[in-house]
Amino acid sequence: MSTGDTKGTKRLLIRTWGCQMNVYDSERMAEVLAPLGFSATESPEDADMVILNTCHIREKAAEKLYSELGRLRVVKDARAESGHATVLAVAGCVAQAEGAEIARRAPYVDLVLGPQTIHRLPEMVARASRAGGLVLDTDFPEESKFDHLPAHRPAQGVTAFLTVQEGCDKFCAFCVVPYTRGAEASRPAAAVLAEARGLVAQGTREITLLGQNVNAYHGEGAGSLAALLYQLAEIPGIARLRYMTSHPRDMDDALIAAHGDLPQLMPMLHLPVQSGADGVLAAMNRGHTADDFRRIVDRLRAARPDLAFSSDFIVGHPGESDADHAATLALVREIGFASAYTFKYSPRPGTPAARAPYQVPEAVKDARLRELQALMVEQQLAFNNSRIGAQFEVLITGPGRHPGQIAGRSPWLQAVHAEGPESLTGQVVRVEAIGASANSLHCVLKEPQQHQSEQHAA
Ligand code: 5AD
Ligand code: SF4
Repeated sequence: MSTGDTKGTKRLLIRTWGCQMNVYDSERMAEVLAPLGFSATESPEDADMVILNTCHIREKAAEKLYSELGRLRVVKDARAESGHATVLAVAGCVAQAEGAEIARRAPYVDLVLGPQTIHRLPEMVARASRAGGLVLDTDFPEESKFDHLPAHRPAQGVTAFLTVQEGCDKFCAFCVVPYTRGAEASRPAAAVLAEARGLVAQGTREITLLGQNVNAYHGEGAGSLAALLYQLAEIPGIARLRYMTSHPRDMDDALIAAHGDLPQLMPMLHLPVQSGADGVLAAMNRGHTADDFRRIVDRLRAARPDLAFSSDFIVGHPGESDADHAATLALVREIGFASAYTFKYSPRPGTPAARAPYQVPEAVKDARLRELQALMVEQQLAFNNSRIGAQFEVLITGPGRHPGQIAGRSPWLQAVHAEGPESLTGQVVRVEAIGASANSLHCVLKEPQQHQSEQHAA
């Protein structure tokens, strides 16, 4: 399997776009390539292999890929002149959807692989360096990639992602995910628990379970995300659990109850609603109304009163009127979302919405996006300000930006900084918030004897 160099001497650069699932896949790609002697570099000039892990969810992301490839081609040519080969790989959802197009537009690319075949990377690298020419692998293999990825992962740090579910069967009218990531599939609970235990043994304290439709999880040995969360909460040393991204339709009674029952389950839920207008939600094929969403939020808040929400919104979906947009703004105010990802609708080839009549003009989309973003900035700041004077637990993730400072995460996923010793890294400490900005909280540590409370909550 060797590509000629001595173990440990090759440099790998991975650039990641898009969602956390891609971040997770990038970590796993680095892990499967480590036995071939690849270690990380940040510099394209030093890289013997570059992987661009792409996102196809919006148009601009694909265009970014081609401009990045153009720049890398120059580096690859310069390295070739000084006798160094560079393997250029495109992974992720653009690769899955447009493998042939990439080969046409960027023939100097060596490998094209989809999200489901990352475990075959070593073999692909060997094939590319033996034979030259494009190696393309965008299958949806029968066997899951997780059965072939190493069970033992290297240390990930205080917080880590863990993919438990992939793919989506919801077919929202605007979305490419069901085409690029395939049908919903869940990992068995035993595999998830083993990976979680391995992470915790190496110092991880907070695990975020990932899935395109994570609350549709139905893996063997658990059957539901709620059941999986209860099993994970039993692992000693897991201080915090989160999960994303969820669909409102899969927010079942057991999962809502888990938010009340499990102290490890953090009170911040990412629950995309996309729009506040029923006509648009129907056109999007979301399968719920704005009122259904309100009821779900009410039930979740009844289970866990300090629960905060973040969401995804699309402005300018085909057919969206001014009144529909106003309904979205009204819903944002009413729910009081603490943060949100806001997107302009971007037509994706092959999706029903791209063929729909009544496409919203670009200028209208721009204006609606600005309006929604301004409202969200206001709400995010208001949410952060609302913590001032409050005491809560923070997971310390490492040193802060300034000497003597430490950084961490609040239960609501806010970035926290405080004066304190770096030796607190990995601990859950009690703090009081004394200042807030749009993106972070400034806190002071409270008495040390109170520090351990969250860790012993299980
Ligand atoms: N245009 C704009 N935003 C989109 N999203 C998904 N598809 C599109 C699209 N075609 C957004 C949705 C989704 C998030 C991950 O990306 O809000 O929840
Ligand atoms: Fe895309 Fe809808 Fe599936 Fe989310 S639920 S991945 S938006 S199709």
